[in-house]
Amino acid sequence: MTDTAEEVSRIGSRWQPGPDGLLLDVRDLQVEFRTREGVAKAINGVDFDLYEGQTLAILGESGSGKSVTAQAIMGILDSPPGFVTGGTVEYCGTDLLKLPESRRRTVRGPEISMIFQDALSALNPVFPVGWQIAEMFRKHRGMNRSDAMREAVRLMERVQIPGAQQRAKAYPHQFSGGMRQRIMIAMAIALDPAILIADEPTTALDVTVQAQIMQLLADLQDERKMGLILITHDLGVVADVADRIAVMYAGRIVEQADVFDLYANPGHPYTKGLLESIPRVDLKGQELSAIGGLPPNLLAIPPGCPFHPRCRYAQDVCKDGAPPPLREVGRNRYAACHFAEDVLREGAHQ
Ligand SMILES: Nc1ncnc2c1ncn2[C@@H]1O[C@H](COP(=O)(O)OP(=O)(O)O)[C@@H](O)[C@H]1O
Ligand code: SF4
Ligand SMILES: [Mg+2]
Repeated sequence: MTDTAEEVSRIGSRWQPGPDGLLLDVRDLQVEFRTREGVAKAINGVDFDLYEGQTLAILGESGSGKSVTAQAIMGILDSPPGFVTGGTVEYCGTDLLKLPESRRRTVRGPEISMIFQDALSALNPVFPVGWQIAEMFRKHRGMNRSDAMREAVRLMERVQIPGAQQRAKAYPHQFSGGMRQRIMIAMAIALDPAILIADEPTTALDVTVQAQIMQLLADLQDERKMGLILITHDLGVVADVADRIAVMYAGRIVEQADVFDLYANPGHPYTKGLLESIPRVDLKGQELSAIGGLPPNLLAIPPGCPFHPRCRYAQDVCKDGAPPPLREVGRNRYAACHFAEDVLREGAHQ
């Protein structure tokens, strides 16, 4: 069977989540980049899960491993130099890491799809946007040209592109950044995926447009009961839409909690620092960081807790041995810090 025939025949036989709605179960994921300078340990044992209708935000500074995590799930890691060296990525009970590329290709798009920060480079500059969306329906759903175009326009209307019928004939460079991101979203949801991964989808946009795109993603997620993974370095952007937050540092998840609990009272010093660094409106334009120092060099991650050189709570116990494991520190919340209870207690009294 050709790839297209296989994909068409799979419609109606979508992968089914577990009885509890579990879509994605990532366990002990490890990724390294083998470079001329050495081995960069980009992902060092990441665990999380995602349920139908849930929005998980993955938050962390630049270089913490957010995009690499997404690429490993999607099977689009730049390899070489990147290699998955351990762990599992179970989608509806099947470890995607064990599937041959020919089967993984059938997962990308119809089951799990992704949008990126830079919509302009992700779209093809030489084809009208309507045509590019319609191609998804032709390729994956076997639709004829006119049906596919009708679906494309319908989808452009759904992502609130004004004058969709006419705008379908325009090229990517004729759209504003925000409108291009809407087109990317339309393409990503065209095949009704169970999971949408949005990697910094609004970083390149101005604040008002950011909020509109986030609202659109939240509405679509709600309407389609997708599992949504929102990757961001900006806690402010996801506060209103995420259910749960996983905070990454040096290729590990250092805190995981429901969004309200995490905001109200962080359990890891790094999260606390990120919360303190949310830019204030009255200081617009100023780059704020309450966390001194730089993220570690992944070629030489410090022993002990990787955050210790920057941590105001650090004690001798933090400086060597194995990194503190992610452990339960409250109801449905986890932190990887020897002193999480102290951090939580302190937060609660403020
Ligand atoms: N193509 C690559 N080649 C070498 N190293 C890479 C590559 N992509 C990512 N890395 C390494 O992985 C780390 C995490 O990258 P990434 O996941 O893109 O960070 P972010 O959290 O900003 O999305 C980077 O700091 C870098 O060391
Ligand atoms: S384990 Fe120690 S160094 Fe790491 S975050 Fe906790 S207090 Fe800071
Ligand atoms: Mg990134």
